[in-house]
Order: sequence, then C-alpha cells, then structure tokens
Amino acid sequence: MRLRNVKNAKERLENCEYVINANRENLKGNWQTLFGNNNPIHLEVGMGKGKFIYEMAKSNPQINFIGIEKYESVLVRALEKINLDHLPNLRLICGDALKLENIFSQEISCIYLNFSDPWPKKRHARRRLTSPIFLDIYDKIFLLGAENKIIQKTDNLILFASSLKELNNHGYFFSEISLDLANSNITNVETEYEMKFKSQGIKINYLKAERK
Ligand SMILES: C[S@@+](CC[C@H](N)C(=O)[O-])C[C@H]1O[C@@H](n2cnc3c(N)ncnc32)[C@H](O)[C@@H]1O
Repeated sequence: MRLRNVKNAKERLENCEYVINANRENLKGNWQTLFGNNNPIHLEVGMGKGKFIYEMAKSNPQINFIGIEKYESVLVRALEKINLDHLPNLRLICGDALKLENIFSQEISCIYLNFSDPWPKKRHARRRLTSPIFLDIYDKIFLLGAENKIIQKTDNLILFASSLKELNNHGYFFSEISLDLANSNITNVETEYEMKFKSQGIKINYLKAERK
C-alpha cells in the first residue's frame, strides 16, 4: 500500500512523540527502557493504517506493541485514524522490515504479519515476509531462550503455503492453523484489509508458529 500526496509527511512523523526514529541512538537492545517496564514486546510488520496494533495495545496493557510501516504516507494516515494518547504501550516506526536487525536486538517475543504483500510470482518469493531472508532477520531480533511466535493472516494461498513450508524448514512448529479464521474459535482482532476481504466473502488463512 502506497498513498500519494500526503503533505509534510516526514515533518508530521518527526513531530509525533509516538513515532520513534529508527536510527535513534542506543535504542537497539533497549526498547524496554523506552517503555519503562519489562513487559514483552510484540511487533507488527507492515501495520498499514494501524487498526490492529491500536486495538491490540488498548486491550493488552501488559504487552508493549510496536508497529513498523515502510511508507511515510501510510503511517501519517494511521496517525490521523488512531488516537495514541493514553497508550504508553504503543510506539510506531517508519522503516523497512529488511532493516529490523538495525533497530532491535533479541528483544521481540511475537511478530504479526497481517496481510503482507503476497509476492505470488516465484521469482519474487524472496520478498515475502516469511522467506528465509526475513526468517534469518527475525532470528536476530527475537528474545533469546524464550518461546517466540510468528502469527500470520492472509487471504493469499500462495503466500500461506510458502509460509508453512519456510517456517517448518526454519524449525517452527504450528500451534494454531485455520483456513477459515472467521469460522474458527481463534480469538481475533481484525485489520483494515481483513474487514475488506471478509465483506467480499473471502476466507482468511491464519497460522501461529512457535519456536524456542
Ligand atoms: C497489504 S497492506 C496490509 C496492511 C495491514 N497490515 C492490514 O492488514 O490492514 C501491507 C502493508 O505492509 C507494508 N509493507 C510492505 N513491505 C514492508 C516492509 N518490507 N517493511 C515494512 N512495511 C512493509 C505496506 O506498505 C503496507 O502498508
């Protein structure tokens, strides 16, 4: 998702106290200090307009949430839609998932991949957020010695099948899988894309992969 014509996007992000500059010094490995507690940190990669991460942060105050989004224009739209006041457990970053290892070090315990770009063509498979390239990056940011989770939702079966294969090859096991999330008993917070797909009758695939 890329939006055009968002005026002064960079400045607006710089002036928002909840948007953290990915290059801020001494932050890597010290995010718990920024939150001021030892609560687990969950990360949504490609948060889009932020509905999911905002609702998750509101209903889970005992967890710290960080949303990362590649495009400034999209993040500005998220800031217009969600009210971050009184949410000390939510922070946002404008950046590319390829750079996650420059931002975090062994401090994330759960990664959400909600309706990530599917890159269905075989020649683009390495761009999928569950390709071995990204799984190696996640290894570096996941908390050591703890059970780590990747939770994915997608409408796209090519991406879903590829995720199952790559996560399995990378040593994850699957604690939950559904090919029709809306008709499962899995607790769920919907994203913007999910609402759109659901209204069109499209079934949502879901997996929860875990690894120690
Ligand atoms: C299809 S949208 C889904 C948005 C939201 N998660 C939802 O479910 O409504 C995918 C989002 O991921 C972002 N994205 C794609 N690749 C990314 C990357 N490498 N790093 C960070 N964000 C990325 C896109 O800009 C877009 O906003």
